[in-house]
Amino acid sequence: MAYVDPVRNPYAPGAGQRPPELAGRGRELEVFDVVLERVARSRPERSLVLTGLRGVGKTVLLNTLRSQAIGRLWGTGKIEARPDQSLRRPVAAALHMAIRELAPHHRAPDRIDEFLGVLKAFALRANPPAGGRSSAPRLRDRWQPGIDVPAATGRADSGDIEIDLVELFTDAASVATDVGTGVALFIDEMQDLGAADVSALCAACHELSQLGAPLIVVGAGLPHLPAVLSAAKSYSERLFRYQRIDRLDRIAADRALCAPAEREDVAYEPKALDLLYEKSGGYPYFVQAYGKATWDHAPRSPITAADVRVAAPEAEAELAVGFFGSRFERATPAEREYMRAMAALSHVEESSSDDLDAAVPTADVARSLGRKPASLSPARDALIKKGLIYSGERGTVAFTVPHFGRYLRTQPG
Ligand SMILES: Nc1ncnc2c1ncn2[C@@H]1O[C@H](COP(=O)(O)OP(=O)(O)OP(=O)(O)O)[C@@H](O)[C@H]1O
Ligand SMILES: [Mg+2]
Repeated sequence: MAYVDPVRNPYAPGAGQRPPELAGRGRELEVFDVVLERVARSRPERSLVLTGLRGVGKTVLLNTLRSQAIGRLWGTGKIEARPDQSLRRPVAAALHMAIRELAPHHRAPDRIDEFLGVLKAFALRANPPAGGRSSAPRLRDRWQPGIDVPAATGRADSGDIEIDLVELFTDAASVATDVGTGVALFIDEMQDLGAADVSALCAACHELSQLGAPLIVVGAGLPHLPAVLSAAKSYSERLFRYQRIDRLDRIAADRALCAPAEREDVAYEPKALDLLYEKSGGYPYFVQAYGKATWDHAPRSPITAADVRVAAPEAEAELAVGFFGSRFERATPAEREYMRAMAALSHVEESSSDDLDAAVPTADVARSLGRKPASLSPARDALIKKGLIYSGERGTVAFTVPHFGRYLRTQPG
């Protein structure tokens, strides 16, 4: 039967890498279709927020939702939030993009220019020099948004991010209303937004939805993102529809592997799929990683369980470097010690569930390290900020990276 050609290997392990088959996300895509339709018709609707662990496919799904919006002639823009970075410039760049998408469908170019003037004013309000206007401008303060119309005055330029976002969003939405569509702003790694920006963003979304204005924010982030949002505004639970993006079930994981293979006339023996699911746990990143290594090692179709067994060490070695190791290296020695203690404890807790890394009480981490809980808070907070762990329920911590505990337990201390 067919030869398995390594050159035609379809799988795509890698952050944000578009998979050859987006498996198991049909419901999310359907929900978003309805959201787009309702928002364009000024029906009350909540924005979507996708949450999940590292490597479950949030970025890829967010990009797919964006394509869906573009397909309906919406204006779209995307930003990736970073810790300690203000929202203003990225939002300006993203809405610039969105309006450029809408412009060709708009009949009045001066309306577009009018909006661009407001957008420029909004963007230029970024980071006024700390010492007041008289202090010498530093290089980054001379940043210019690439907008060739003069900045307007008196709108979206107050310097108060909440007021400015409401005005900017309202104006962007009204351009979209003219063309009968909407504007969608996609925010990846949303948990990294600063508190003031989160709060302003919630307030702006709240205001826009009350006005029935067709602009939505679609977010993606780690599992504690809902907690970050509700800490900023208590009404955020009513503002966003949270969708937990999880590992793929057996059927979806098999489809993620088999559909691209079929297109290359390659098949899997059922036992190979059993073993691949056991290894990947259905986590999309792992599905791609094991799929890729297995393909490279399989001489011919159908791919067998023996092929998977031969390939697995290579997949694991690559994951150890690219998926786990690169993250572990971001931690300081004290933070690593904290995570090792978590790993040892989560192993004990896991025994009953099929979850490899259960959440562990922070008090237990402290006890196992023989320290006072308060003395470990800096390490814990730094790990949360680095996106390596999160606190789902009060007083507990868990890894954001699936199978991370198991990885740490195999590493020499
Ligand atoms: N539905 C899916 N079916 C098959 N493969 C998928 C699916 N979703 C994502 N993948 C694959 O999983 C990997 C991780 O996807 P992605 O980068 O979107 O995850 P993420 O949740 O954004 O991770 P992170 O939190 O690290 O940013 C990629 O290699 C992608 O191709
Ligand atoms: Mg991502």
